[in-house]
Amino acid sequence: MAMLPIITAPDPRLKQVAKPVERVDARTRKLMDDMLETMYAAPGIGLAAPQVGVGQRIIVVDVSPDDAPERQPYRMANPQLLWVSEDDATYNEGCLSVPEHYADVARPRAIRVRYVDENDEIRELEAEGLLATCIQHEMDHLEGILFIDHLTALKRNIILRKLLKARKTTDAEVRAG
Ligand code: NI
Repeated sequence: MAMLPIITAPDPRLKQVAKPVERVDARTRKLMDDMLETMYAAPGIGLAAPQVGVGQRIIVVDVSPDDAPERQPYRMANPQLLWVSEDDATYNEGCLSVPEHYADVARPRAIRVRYVDENDEIRELEAEGLLATCIQHEMDHLEGILFIDHLTALKRNIILRKLLKARKTTDAEVRAG
């Protein structure tokens, strides 16, 4: 496995609509495994392929607690929502592509999702709570949508300006160093 560099906002690659995966082959499986390794190391609970510069409809998710006896990773290609609950749940969300910023986002509390797994087999999963939120957050990335796009323009722009400022500071430090 290998670690992949994570793209941070603002970046045009995070705003693009990802393309469907035609077949989950060995190469796709390797990408899924690399994405999981990158996600665990970050650490994070979900990652979408566009965040590592790959414009394909692939997400990985694992919301199992750190002290769980076993990891519960999901590798999903072409995820599709079949059903969402009428009631919402609100979580304080963050994103590896929006480092150090968090905000409350309301999404359907429960979902049913269809996807292609790492063995190229079609599966369906019912999820609720944090898992449902995480899957929806990652699926948003496939449409070029970040969690900050669910906020008011005012809040979103404050975060984007801070991200740009932080990036300029880092660049200046690199040049100076
Ligand atoms: Ni994200």
